[in-house]
Amino acid sequence: MAQNIPKDFIDNLLEKVNIVDVIGNYIKLEKKGNDYWARCPFHSEKTSSFSVSENKQFFHCFGCGAHGNSIGFVMDHSNKTYPEAIETIANSLGIEIPRDKESTKKFEAKKIIQNSLEDAKKQFEKQLKNSEKAISYLKDRNISGETAKLFNIGYADDNFQALIKNLEKKYTELNLLDAGLIVKKENKTYDKFRHRIMFPIHDVSGKTIAFGGRIIEENLKIPAAKYMNSPETPLFSKKKVLYNLNLAKQTKESRESLYVVEGYMDVIALHQADIKNTVATLGTAVTQENLLQCFKYTKEIICCFDGDQAGKKAAWQGVENIMPIIKDGDVISFVFLPEGKDPDNIVNKGGKNHWNELVNKKISLEDFIYNKFSSESDINTAAGKTQYIQKVDKLLDKLNAKILKTIISNSLKEKVGAKYIIDNKGNEIIQKRKITKSASPLQKAILILMHNPNIEVDESIVNDSRIEKNQGIIILKSIIKLIKNDNNINMGRILEKFRHESDHYKILEQISRISITNYEFPGKEFHACICLTIKNYLKEKLQESDPSDIKKSAKIQQEIREIDDKSKKF
Ligand code: UTP
Ligand code: MN
Repeated sequence: MAQNIPKDFIDNLLEKVNIVDVIGNYIKLEKKGNDYWARCPFHSEKTSSFSVSENKQFFHCFGCGAHGNSIGFVMDHSNKTYPEAIETIANSLGIEIPRDKESTKKFEAKKIIQNSLEDAKKQFEKQLKNSEKAISYLKDRNISGETAKLFNIGYADDNFQALIKNLEKKYTELNLLDAGLIVKKENKTYDKFRHRIMFPIHDVSGKTIAFGGRIIEENLKIPAAKYMNSPETPLFSKKKVLYNLNLAKQTKESRESLYVVEGYMDVIALHQADIKNTVATLGTAVTQENLLQCFKYTKEIICCFDGDQAGKKAAWQGVENIMPIIKDGDVISFVFLPEGKDPDNIVNKGGKNHWNELVNKKISLEDFIYNKFSSESDINTAAGKTQYIQKVDKLLDKLNAKILKTIISNSLKEKVGAKYIIDNKGNEIIQKRKITKSASPLQKAILILMHNPNIEVDESIVNDSRIEKNQGIIILKSIIKLIKNDNNINMGRILEKFRHESDHYKILEQISRISITNYEFPGKEFHACICLTIKNYLKEKLQESDPSDIKKSAKIQQEIREIDDKSKKF
């Protein structure tokens, strides 16, 4: 993945790409007047309030305030990281990303790790063919040769040196340590995985990034964990990866729904039973990264848990993890399997039909929340109801999806006969959305300039020493500098230049959310706003000054009149 991409390259890319094409790849745009319009992909609406400006290389939704440049759109729409979005856009233009020295080095180090993992995978697969014990273990678990091959299942020999002896011909000790394939203790190195069935873990594009290994024999003298995973490496982070997403995402069924289960063996058994839209977390509760990744490929995520206490606990932990990133329109359901059963047992005994019967009993996120909270308090009493509502409010507080939040909040409260609270709360949410913040004159000036970078700026007024310490003026000056250096700059590119100056970026982001009137004379309005900023400063100074100091007050009042006069000249 692209990292540390040179800033020049990004600016260059934004110069080349047309936001209309980028967004047009994802949603249907209709040209009306100068701009392109669509129904907003970031909130649900019946009429089109999502606009894309080709001139400004910027999108803005008048309904929900979503806005940004091409990179921002790809990030938000496809849940991509910043470098991923750049890569997507570069790819669409057939442009290769240059990596600076540092990132080239990192990139190459990863490549070596990657290669060593691919080599290890091949060796494990070969060793499986020669191990009767391993083969008969897989047979006992009903795994066919074909399935084993598809998942590249292998076997790590019962030997401390099998892998290292082979791979040290090609890789340094450090390479293999970095890859998590070997361990070093008291100056001795040896294979990390021994006498285990090996499950290669692939990233979405199918590259091997780690392994999970399962013991095949209990050794009572040396107790070992049932499963052992690769350690965290530059390629592998347990929380971010889903087992089998690379294959699952290719199936047609995945477009509708994806099952998230708990174990490698569950995925493999389900696949063999013709349920191929399945992924597994790696021994953790569902994380935010997991959810974002899944929703790239599917409409509905069905989280399946073993029916025991541990399963329920993991399920709830998952709900708490993902609350902040659930979006309006996301569908998440839950299946709780019968006590003591996992998907592997279920399909091995009852096949696909039994599985379908059980997953048909899936419950919604809302029902899951209700079941949990209503079982924790006596909702027939006022005190219990209060507790219940407090918990609902606390949990939903984390939810950013506004429409879903109102709906779930309403219905969860309705269920305990507390609808009146909800209505108030619901209205509150809706009302809050309607309040459009009015902009300060300086914010307005910045906004006007970003929308109209070609206005002729009178710098003497911008450089007025009375407002020079104002944060907004400092930002404004940087924008003016950018425009001077590049006559063709537009709003999208201006915003991008600030992305890594987090304080300024945040301020600019907020400002660019504000809707703008199309001024006939934006230059006039711009200068009027700066004058007003100076005037406001003076008025404040007047208020703070000692009223008995008549000389000082008179001077300030004189300055106010002067700035008023000046304002009229623009
Ligand atoms: P389970 O114990 O439910 O395993 O752990 P399972 O999938 O049913 O395995 P089998 O059927 O006994 O072979 C589920 C997942 O938790 C992680 C693994 O990712 C496993 O697939 N796990 C489990 C570990 O990381 N370490 C362990 O010791 C056990
Ligand atoms: Mn199992």
